[in-house]
Amino acid sequence: MARRKKIYEGKAKTLYEGPEPGTIVQYFKDDATAFNAEKRDVIEGKGVLNNILSEYFMQGLNDIGVPTHFLKRLNMREQLVRAAEIIPLEIIVRNYAAGSLSKRLGLEEGMRLPRPIIEYCYKDDALGDPLVSEEHIAAFGWATSQDMDDIVSLALRVNDFMSGVMKAVGIRLVDFKIEVGRVYEGDFQRLIVADEISPDSCRLWDVETNQKLDKDVFRRDLGSLTDAYSEVARRLGVLPKGA
Ligand code: C5P
Repeated sequence: MARRKKIYEGKAKTLYEGPEPGTIVQYFKDDATAFNAEKRDVIEGKGVLNNILSEYFMQGLNDIGVPTHFLKRLNMREQLVRAAEIIPLEIIVRNYAAGSLSKRLGLEEGMRLPRPIIEYCYKDDALGDPLVSEEHIAAFGWATSQDMDDIVSLALRVNDFMSGVMKAVGIRLVDFKIEVGRVYEGDFQRLIVADEISPDSCRLWDVETNQKLDKDVFRRDLGSLTDAYSEVARRLGVLPKGA
């Protein structure tokens, strides 16, 4: 058997060259990292859960006309995605105060924000993904003003979809992060949602109890991460057999 060509290895995923030009195989690892990889562990089954949950969210977005890189799930740990030129930004949407926003502005975690707030971080592990403003993004040419309009529109549409899907199963979407990439179609370029959408990249709280069902369980040592992610998958009806 021929070895596949590895394109990139990140903290939680590995990317391989796909079977057709313009495609990539995205492999979900069991590695968990937090605080810019200062805390790390291997959590058996996390990759399987994130693969299935990211498929569920990305396919749901494709179905309502929000373009994503997702093409199809290949097996328990891999999915086929469209190759895209990733814009070097983490796009964070917040509905309730939590995490770094609470810390930065002294806001109580769980406070409903007056409206969804979008923040941008520059994707650079060595710098710890610093918060940047639209001024930095424009001045350094990371995205054009048309890109920024498209990014805001994508981020808010993902927020509406994800908030609704999670609310229907008794979960509050506190915040989340997406990444966006460029694809070229003839004379046009389009932005699509890339990377993953999973409990690794969202804050998800039970609406009744505020129990955390996301990566904060790992960051803050609140119990079993796979139990939390399995609960999200169970409520959405996508729990893999044997999990
Ligand atoms: O840490 P912070 O409060 O800024 O995170 C906001 C949201 O973005 C959380 O849902 C977190 O899981 C996600 N995030 C992420 N990857 C990062 C930073 C934040 O998925 N590198």
